[in-house]
Amino acid sequence: MLSVTGLTKKFGGFTAVNDVSFKVQPGEILGLIGPNGSGKSTTFNCVAGMYVPTAGRIEFEGAEIGGLPANRVCHKGIGRTYQIPRPFRNLTLLENVALSAYFGQDGRVAREACWRQAEAALAMVGLPTDPHTTTDGLGAAALKKLELARALATQPRLLLADESLNGLDHGEMDQAADMLQRIRREMNITIVWVEHIMGVLMRVVDRVVVLDHGEVIFDGAPKAAQVDRRVVEVYLGTDAQG
Ligand SMILES: Nc1ncnc2c1ncn2[C@@H]1O[C@H](COP(=O)(O)OP(=O)(O)O)[C@@H](O)[C@H]1O
Ligand SMILES: [Mg+2]
Repeated sequence: MLSVTGLTKKFGGFTAVNDVSFKVQPGEILGLIGPNGSGKSTTFNCVAGMYVPTAGRIEFEGAEIGGLPANRVCHKGIGRTYQIPRPFRNLTLLENVALSAYFGQDGRVAREACWRQAEAALAMVGLPTDPHTTTDGLGAAALKKLELARALATQPRLLLADESLNGLDHGEMDQAADMLQRIRREMNITIVWVEHIMGVLMRVVDRVVVLDHGEVIFDGAPKAAQVDRRVVEVYLGTDAQG
C-alpha cells in the first residue's frame, strides 16, 4: 500500500533521515519506533507532505506522492494525526471534525454528508457527537481522541498516527491501543503507528520498523524486535517501557 525507498531528509548539513526503506501492507498495523530524535516524525512528515524529501521515493497505492503538499496527500487517502493537538478552540468538537471531513475530501462531499461523517468519527473515538460540546476542559486523552476523529473524518485508507500515547496514563494507553485496533477492524483502515515507547504498542502491531539515528536497524515481528541485540542496545537505559 505504501512503499518508502531510500528516503533521505537533510536539514542543512544534518541528515535526520538516512536512506530509509520500508513497506506497509494493506490491512496491517505497522509500528514505527525509535528513541527521541531517531527520525520518526521526519519520516512521517515526508510521507504526509509536510516536508519535501531530499532523496528517495514514496509510493502510495502505486503512485509517487513524495514532494506533494499535505493537502494533496490527504486527498489521496492518507490521514494523519499531529503529535501536539491544536484544535480550533473557538469551534465545537463537531465543527472541528466536520471541517476535516469537508476540506480533507477536497470539498467533493456535500456539507450535509460531512456533518454525518463528523458524527461517525466522533462516535468511533468515544467523544460526544452533539453540536454544542466545545474543546473547553478537554484533557490530554480527549485531545488525542479529537485528533484521531479529525483524521478519520477525512475518510483515509491509510492512517498515520504520531505519538498517540504521549502524556497518557496506563489505562488511557490501553484504551488508545484498543481504539486503533477497532479503527482497523471496523473501518478497514491500514495504520502506521509512530511511538518512541514500546510498551502497549508491541502487543498491537503486526510488524515493527525500528529507527536509530535516522536509519532502519530492524524490520520484523514485535517478538523478534524485543530480543534483537541492536534494538535492545538502543533501548537500554531509556524509557522503553514508558
Ligand atoms: N525542521 C528541522 N530542522 C532541523 N532539524 C530537525 C528538524 N526536524 C527535526 N530535526 C532533527 O532531526 C532529528 C530527528 O527528529 P525527529 O524526526 O523529530 O525525531 P523523532 O520523531 O524520532 O523524535 C533530530 O535530531 C531533530 O532535532
Ligand atoms: Mg517525533
